[in-house]
Amino acid sequence: MKDFDPATSFGVDVAADYADYKRGDEEDAAAFLAEFAKEGSALEFAIGTGRIALPLAKKGVQVDGIELSPHMVEQLRAKPEGQNINVIIGDMSRATTNHQYPLVYLVFNTIFNLLTADDQIRCFENAARHLTLNGYFIVETALPHAWISPDKSDYVHTEYVGQATVGLDVARYDPVTQLLEENHIRFTTQGIMMSPIVCRLITPGEMDLMARIAGMRLVQRFANWQRSPFDIHSKAHISIYGF
Ligand SMILES: C[S@@+](CC[C@H](N)C(=O)[O-])C[C@H]1O[C@@H](n2cnc3c(N)ncnc32)[C@H](O)[C@@H]1O
Repeated sequence: MKDFDPATSFGVDVAADYADYKRGDEEDAAAFLAEFAKEGSALEFAIGTGRIALPLAKKGVQVDGIELSPHMVEQLRAKPEGQNINVIIGDMSRATTNHQYPLVYLVFNTIFNLLTADDQIRCFENAARHLTLNGYFIVETALPHAWISPDKSDYVHTEYVGQATVGLDVARYDPVTQLLEENHIRFTTQGIMMSPIVCRLITPGEMDLMARIAGMRLVQRFANWQRSPFDIHSKAHISIYGF
């Protein structure tokens, strides 16, 4: 997608829309993650508006964040409980809080938001730098084949059909660059709103190699926050890496 800039893709409007968004996995994710934040602290890469960080903080975990979009952080700050979360504005593959944690986590497919293999590897390396010796880096993401397949590399998916609003997701995948170019388009009686995003899809195996480059190993992999076994039917994975 020509001129796409990841730094601006979560701008004012997207952030405002996202502020109270719930995916439905928030409580399960927080319960799962709390078990790994044993000494009571955690770092979320790409913390967004605190969808997971706030329920995790409610469980007594001191959560810090790194986040690229100041607009997402503004939405987090607007929530009363969001005031207690320390956030560094920056790129999760490079920025640092200058602390170490028993848990660093990155959820909701956001490893895909880094658009080169080098940046994705740097993200694993940055996670390793922020971990205590017994710490874990937990990554939750979809499996690429759940989104695209050789006969489905271009698609239009209907996200929402209402009387005054229709939402479409229009996408195209390039298997050479592994980039999925998507535009979430909302047609309303007031006009058309476009939210473009580009993702670099990687498999669990590629992630395991990136972890090895960063000095970590896969400890365990589940299909979901309920710890269902990861198997041939899985559409997503939660991978736990440690030293
Ligand atoms: C799908 S949202 C997820 C937010 C939050 N983790 C959640 O689960 O609700 C993706 C977030 O990643 C942020 N992001 C994208 N690339 C980033 C990067 N390189 N470094 C830090 N944050 C990034 C975006 O600004 C956005 O807030």
